[in-house]
Amino acid sequence: MCHWCLCEPGIVPNKVIHIVIHMLLPMNKNRSRNKPTVAESDSRSGDWRLKGPRILVEPPGPNSKAAMKRKQKFVTAGLGVSHPIAIDYAEGPFLRDVDGNVYLDFTVGLGALNCGHRPMEVLNAWRHQIDRLDHICAMVSMYEPYLQLAEELSRICPGNLRKSLIMNSGSEAIENSVKIARAYNKKRWLMSYITGYHGRTYLGISLMGRGRLYREGFGRVLPNVKLVDFAYCYRCHLKLEYPSCGLACTDLLEKTVESPELKDDVCCLIMEPVEGAGGFINPPPGYWERVKQICDDNGIVLIDDEIQTGFGRTGKLFAIEHWKVEPDLVVTGKSLSMGLPIGAVTGKEEIMDAPAAASLGGTYGGNPICCAGALEAIKLAKRALPNVKMIHRVEKKRLNEWKERYESVGDARGLGAMMGIELVKTKNGKVPAPQLARNIQLNCFRKGLYISSGGLFGNVSRLHPPLTITRSLLETGLDIMESALEEETRP
Ligand SMILES: Cc1ncc(COP(=O)(O)O)c(C=O)c1O
Repeated sequence: MCHWCLCEPGIVPNKVIHIVIHMLLPMNKNRSRNKPTVAESDSRSGDWRLKGPRILVEPPGPNSKAAMKRKQKFVTAGLGVSHPIAIDYAEGPFLRDVDGNVYLDFTVGLGALNCGHRPMEVLNAWRHQIDRLDHICAMVSMYEPYLQLAEELSRICPGNLRKSLIMNSGSEAIENSVKIARAYNKKRWLMSYITGYHGRTYLGISLMGRGRLYREGFGRVLPNVKLVDFAYCYRCHLKLEYPSCGLACTDLLEKTVESPELKDDVCCLIMEPVEGAGGFINPPPGYWERVKQICDDNGIVLIDDEIQTGFGRTGKLFAIEHWKVEPDLVVTGKSLSMGLPIGAVTGKEEIMDAPAAASLGGTYGGNPICCAGALEAIKLAKRALPNVKMIHRVEKKRLNEWKERYESVGDARGLGAMMGIELVKTKNGKVPAPQLARNIQLNCFRKGLYISSGGLFGNVSRLHPPLTITRSLLETGLDIMESALEEETRP
């Protein structure tokens, strides 16, 4: 790509002709500099250079096939790749592969790019910062972007959360949140949900119940983790229905906390307000308020994992704001920075200050470039919030229509722009249909749309459109998904 006029490769292949064009059209240079940011241009998708979706060669094309061969040869088989191609360029809601195909991206870097790919404000913040200070290590000396981000997190996080620790990833932030909670109340047991997801470190895989996929072959996980059932109403473990259940699942949680094994010895409950990898499960009204009460009554630190739900994904800056709950610690990552590795723990002062001096940290944690970008990313997420209402309205209507029309769509659910469908063999039996979810994902892929799958049984199709998406592109993506659903469920 020419960084002067932003031409696509191959459009003006001859360098001399290219220079002549620039001389004849000097305005091109200004046009590129003043090009609207993706966030500004979200209602004018004509400003994106990529147009799509546009499939030129059935994916994987020859260049992608060659890339995947190299992957097989040089990259561990333990790293799975859901879309077996290589991407060379991304912009706003689009991805372009090495064969020139353009895809509409409803996975946005697994929820890490809430405002799409390479938003200009974030890019500019990185560029500005890289010219001043690339790295020093927060354990050696402080610097403005770290301080400013910590201040901003204390302003925006729900409740009275004053202090932060900034790290390199969501998993690393989760690790630190648990260390901090342990240092605070010195209790032994960690509680989390069977359907939860908190990363792939040893602590992360210890905190989840989906053993087969994430734990297999890795030996013993950490002891003293109590896994409990989530408020997964579609598959209620108590076989009850909301609201007549009276939130009986929370009574069971309370009984567990007060059982002889755990009584007075539960350190923290780590939870996602809306479960992400677990299949976009949003608990009913009143659930988190009741859980918080149980935590308070038993001296349990409530750790709110907003790594996937944060920064506007559910229509509020933090998903927990849909309930009237103030967590003790909030863990963020992914769209906190919209493109560079980051994770943070923000919490109540007395909890955050519990660890001994110099007992927390890491070489790159809170890197200046990541923090500078994050300050801009937060502004973008706030600005995108109103658009989430449109996304939710459009998706809710379409997903519910599919639920009515297709025997295989057992449930349609989610909050804000975090919505998905649960696929089953039959509506009555609710037997999970993970292969159908995979077939739909691959069908969408061949048509130019990226979607994720997930859930306890791998049978949930999950949509993460950029929060800045236009209505027409959103409808285009949903049309593709509908035709994939139609084709894959045809007898
Ligand atoms: C809710 C949640 N917690 C933690 C993590 C782990 O974050 P990371 O992959 O940045 O380590 C993820 C990642 O998908 C997540 O969705």
